[in-house]
Amino acid sequence: MATTLTVITENTVPGKAGGLYGEHGFALFLDRPGRKVLFDAGPAGIATINNAPRLGVDLRATDAMMLSHGHMDHTGGLAGVLRAIGKRVPVYAHPEVFMDRYAKVGDRMVYTGLPFKREALEGMGAAFDLSREFREIGEGIYLSGEIARRRAFETGDTDLFVKVNGELRKDPLRDDQSIAVETAEGLALVLGCCHSGLVNTMDHFQAKLPGRPIHTVIGGTHLDFAPAEQLCETIAVLKGLGVKRLGLSHCTGLRAGARLAQELGDAVAFCTVGYSVTLP
Ligand SMILES: [Fe+2]
Ligand SMILES: [Fe+2]
Repeated sequence: MATTLTVITENTVPGKAGGLYGEHGFALFLDRPGRKVLFDAGPAGIATINNAPRLGVDLRATDAMMLSHGHMDHTGGLAGVLRAIGKRVPVYAHPEVFMDRYAKVGDRMVYTGLPFKREALEGMGAAFDLSREFREIGEGIYLSGEIARRRAFETGDTDLFVKVNGELRKDPLRDDQSIAVETAEGLALVLGCCHSGLVNTMDHFQAKLPGRPIHTVIGGTHLDFAPAEQLCETIAVLKGLGVKRLGLSHCTGLRAGARLAQELGDAVAFCTVGYSVTLP
């Protein structure tokens, strides 16, 4: 069952791509017979709505959405995107996706959470389907559910906070989710920001879907924010697993991306706006 993954919104637009917009965030379209899933909405919807038709993606054909987590750079485009979809669609996410989130930027706390009320989005067509569990959201398309943080070197962010009862606390980002798609080559993982850690996420899918090698990983790895030790350990695991395609996007960053490209060679691709791959 062929599956096409197309990056619609990302931080960067390749130099020769006319008419496409880049925005700090992520949105990807998964097109598989019988299931068309929009994975995240991008930060404002402007790039997603502008880029989709230019990349041959008809957002009106979307029959499900999923939110990788509540951060605004993945969910701020929801209102515009739901309008472009123009019909009621299930939106798969974790129950904590609506939490009030902040990032510490210098000495300021900047709001980074989902910028719409649930009721407002429901009025625009979102039929939220919230769960913490691993589940199949289309034939051979698996949503991770909550990902256990087992690897000691994946320490998570220290400058991200959540407001609970008026108090700021370190954000555990339990709502972070990725998907795995079954292909003839093995599993293809799609990540939003991967706040749970790339290795924790790969461990999770290997435990849930045993005996299926991870062939492809595409999306934000969050390694831009990782200490050197985490990057080294992650590279060792990727090499050990023999991941054949590593499509780096969004919060991977230039420094980590360059190192990964040096270490993993031809397996690495930079998945900017318009990157598209069809998996067998
Ligand atoms: Fe992000
Ligand atoms: Fe994020």
